[in-house]
Amino acid sequence: MKPDRKEVIIPAYSCPSIVSATLKAGLRPVLCDVNLQDFGFFYEDLENKVNAKTLAIIVVHLYGYPVQFEQIRKLCKDNNSYLVEDAAQAFGNTLPDSPDTKVGLAGDAGFYSFGRGKPISIMQGGLLAAQSEEVYGETEKIYKDLNECPAYQNINYCFSLGIYSLFLNAYLYWLPQMLPFLNLGGTIFEPEFETSKGLGVASEIACMMISRLEKEQEVRKANSKWFAENLEQRFINRGSRSGAYPYLRYPLIIDDRDLRSRILERLITEGTGATGSYPTPLNELPKLREVLADKMEYSCAKILSESIVTLPVHSGLSAKDRENIKRIIEQEGHAN
Ligand SMILES: Cc1ncc(COP(=O)(O)O)c(C=O)c1O
Repeated sequence: MKPDRKEVIIPAYSCPSIVSATLKAGLRPVLCDVNLQDFGFFYEDLENKVNAKTLAIIVVHLYGYPVQFEQIRKLCKDNNSYLVEDAAQAFGNTLPDSPDTKVGLAGDAGFYSFGRGKPISIMQGGLLAAQSEEVYGETEKIYKDLNECPAYQNINYCFSLGIYSLFLNAYLYWLPQMLPFLNLGGTIFEPEFETSKGLGVASEIACMMISRLEKEQEVRKANSKWFAENLEQRFINRGSRSGAYPYLRYPLIIDDRDLRSRILERLITEGTGATGSYPTPLNELPKLREVLADKMEYSCAKILSESIVTLPVHSGLSAKDRENIKRIIEQEGHAN
């Protein structure tokens, strides 16, 4: 859209798929450090990275929690760059102090994922919201040129979705994490990926799930509130984030590295559904080292990767599961 601008600024602690998508679009990913308050950009670093080659800045609402980006919007405007919201993990969420403002609709464009473990989880696809005629027009052109999915894929898809839903059953939700080949919660970098128009049956299922989203959000909010109120304060570093919010996963910051490793290992081996999220800043991920060729040290992204534990808050989590998570954290904490 602006051919002389090829750089896209991405948080150094975020999903490797954003790098894949940037490369696939023939653009250059530029990393920027994050802040430990809401996991958005570290603003001083962002100011240094923005220049006349910056096409877009992508703010990422990690774990479904909206990062603040008013200052970034101004920076984009002054620099004539686009502001894109990655709301992959935040579909349906609203700003904590403005319940009418939906996350993902305040930039030039916003996108949502309907992949595994997302608020609308139908294993594939997503949605792009364009705020300007210009972005919408360009997106429409790209969409028109995409291949149609062959009809037989509807059947394969329904079969896979059936198996996936079985694993999401309240009594089995821990099972997929125990199966390493599913790589759930893993960090995937696929520089070459197929794109096509959505499957008809998938969009119908997504619409059905959207009608149940509010109920699921209430549960996620209640579970997050419970963790915020019931886990010992010394393990909770919420930054500027609110506790009672429909997180996709509840992020817990444990500053002591050894304690964090022990807690995480026990939570994983006991099948609680907890994860350590992304293991390193993007430029230190083995598959991305060469691609990014970025030897910078992103100190806050590094701290975050070494101190975060994310807890499940979905409706498959029972009161007993929550108590179990609390017990494990307290036992390891007191053994410290
Ligand atoms: C923050 C974030 N951005 C982008 C993506 C990519 O979404 P998809 O897998 O639908 O391409 C994900 C998926 O995990 C994500 O968590």
